[in-house]
Amino acid sequence: MALVDVSRIPKHVAIIMDGNGRWAQARSKPRTAGHERGADAVRATMRAARRLGIPALTLYAFSEQNWDRPEAEINALVDLLCECLVTERNELLDNEIRLSAIGRLHKLPKHAQSRLRALSAETEACEGMTLTLALSYGGREELIDAARALASAARDGEIEPDEIDEAAIDRFLPSMDLGPVDLLIRTGGEQRISNFLLWGSAYAELYFTDELWPDFDAISLYSAVRDYQGRERRFGLVPGVDEDATVRKGPHKLERAI
Ligand code: IPE
Ligand code: IPE
Ligand code: MG
Repeated sequence: MALVDVSRIPKHVAIIMDGNGRWAQARSKPRTAGHERGADAVRATMRAARRLGIPALTLYAFSEQNWDRPEAEINALVDLLCECLVTERNELLDNEIRLSAIGRLHKLPKHAQSRLRALSAETEACEGMTLTLALSYGGREELIDAARALASAARDGEIEPDEIDEAAIDRFLPSMDLGPVDLLIRTGGEQRISNFLLWGSAYAELYFTDELWPDFDAISLYSAVRDYQGRERRFGLVPGVDEDATVRKGPHKLERAI
């Protein structure tokens, strides 16, 4: 942690938590054992992110495509989610962490939806960090939903087609509520996006590690953040432009201290 520059902390870190199955397989355990250990890694990462002062952490917990996995694994993942929404309540409240979720949440079983809603409501006033769980989430699906909503708004005369610009699309994407992704981490050795935050990751710094998700911890997060801090973000501009100018001309024209 000593080597992390606290003045250049990424505002939005997103993680593709991959490798639970392989972690379990390497130990001759069922895949679900990997998911269980993965939940411990979530807790450790959440705490570390909060300690670093990262304002937004988005975790890819279950993809839209993961519904095609064996039913027993899906059920185990949903049960684990429900259990964590109970066991982590105090962890969130004590650390001032607000819970949020993105994805086609209506596809989750009703009891999971209501637990998610309840804990999100309970932590709504927490301002230390926002933890967003991407559940039944797909980047393409999110864009499809936004396109449908925009088309309806245009049909109803609420927006003119030529008013549809970057900012308008941002407004229709729940994943953009916390701004674009600064640092996108993927564990498990694969170097792909797997339908995660497609729009918001347009200028994200990508960090791939071979570490399997259940082994990821605070030190792993610090390493990723340190690596990020060594990158030059240019947003299509030329090197050597002063950082403030890069920030002003960045794709989202936000006041961003990178
Ligand atoms: C990530 O680990 C967790 C989910 C996708 C739910 P995997 O279950 O994909 O683990 P591997 O990639 O098979 O090792
Ligand atoms: C991405 O991992 C989804 C989550 C981490 C929730 P997958 O294991 O599902 O992705 P692929 O199959 O390697 O692309
Ligand atoms: Mg995987």
